Amino acid sequence: MASGSLLIRNIKQLVGVSKEYPELKKGADLNKLPCLDQCYLQIENGKIKSFGPDSQAPEYSGEQLDAKNGLVLPAFVDCHTHLVFAEWREREFNDRIHGLTYQEIASRGGGILNSARKLGLLSEEALYERAAIRLQAAIECGTGAIEIKSGYGLNPENELKILRVIKKLKENFSIPIKASFLAAHAYPLEFRENHPAYIRQITEVMLPQLAAEGLADYCDVFCEQNFFSTEETDQILEAASKYQLKARIHTNQFTNSGGIEIAIRHQAVSVDHLEVCNSEEIELLKNSNTLPVLLPGAAFFMNQEHAPARKMIEAGLPIVLASDFNPGTCPSSNMPFILSLACIQLRLSPEEALNAMTLNAAYSLEIQDQLGSITPGKLANLIITKPVSSLAFLPYSFGSNWIDRVLIQGQAII
Ligand code: NIG
Ligand code: FE
Repeated sequence: MASGSLLIRNIKQLVGVSKEYPELKKGADLNKLPCLDQCYLQIENGKIKSFGPDSQAPEYSGEQLDAKNGLVLPAFVDCHTHLVFAEWREREFNDRIHGLTYQEIASRGGGILNSARKLGLLSEEALYERAAIRLQAAIECGTGAIEIKSGYGLNPENELKILRVIKKLKENFSIPIKASFLAAHAYPLEFRENHPAYIRQITEVMLPQLAAEGLADYCDVFCEQNFFSTEETDQILEAASKYQLKARIHTNQFTNSGGIEIAIRHQAVSVDHLEVCNSEEIELLKNSNTLPVLLPGAAFFMNQEHAPARKMIEAGLPIVLASDFNPGTCPSSNMPFILSLACIQLRLSPEEALNAMTLNAAYSLEIQDQLGSITPGKLANLIITKPVSSLAFLPYSFGSNWIDRVLIQGQAII
């Protein structure tokens, strides 16, 4: 896609503005979301050039766009997804409605293993086609950068297949995309009684190969009871670090698994889920640079207690929010809905939630120089809303579509 140059006029409010590159927002600062009323915004070659009062808009003979009194926000950064999968899993959704737990479904060979069986049957081309349709849909919901994990392959051939699909998405879409290697998502049935053999496959076969092809940016592990233990997580992250893959891990989704401590020891970029997280673990995070990524869509869909977001903010932590889009625990990539859940269920203010899913999420993907705020020099990946009364209307009107346009590098994609 060619990068756009245009002048947007008649913006009711520019949200998340900053002339300088903003710092990560922690604790009470998470609520600070600078906004400017009645503005123009100029975009040049796909990047934000300038903004200011509409009455001082520059003379411009190129393309103009009337925001029609809508708000303009930085696009969402969805820093945790499993978007490359073969099939949806609504049958397991039905089983859960009838009383089975996620762990029971998993122990019967369902869940992640079910997804892996289906993925093994698809060619790389077919998998790419399905993933591309889903990515396009996520972008149309306002996502302007994304992280995508492997983890439904669970053997060298299929894990690499997923990572190659992500590489192709990177080539064909003009939003920043990061890939995480998550072969340590579940033990394949044939390794249930022989964990060391699967870990050897990850560390001695998959890691060298994906590193040689430059297929991953991060290494993830599902550190959880009945999945990967802290010792196993430690071993995998240690091996990944030899290939310069930083860690971002799933932990504390169902139990205090000990993953937070291991992640911090490995200087992980993030620990994701944390539905179960006690004061000691919050204290550990406070003394680290590891970011807590909360996934209220998964907790909502699993009908679980949500992560203690307010306690984390009160402790001074930076909060990050993402969708966790996947066929098992969050079959939606709709970030506007995550915004509503964050306010309604996690009790974040609209400002806190927006910072967590834009600026802080950009930090978690190490793309804060490209996205996360309306700052000259950053990519013009933006959302223009329909005319709304205020920022709070966005999370308040849950389930309604308040997005009018999405711009990627200044080009309107809807
Ligand atoms: O983030 N918890 C581990 N991984 C995913 C779910 C994967 C699945 O059920 O397919 C998650 O919730
Ligand atoms: Fe996940």
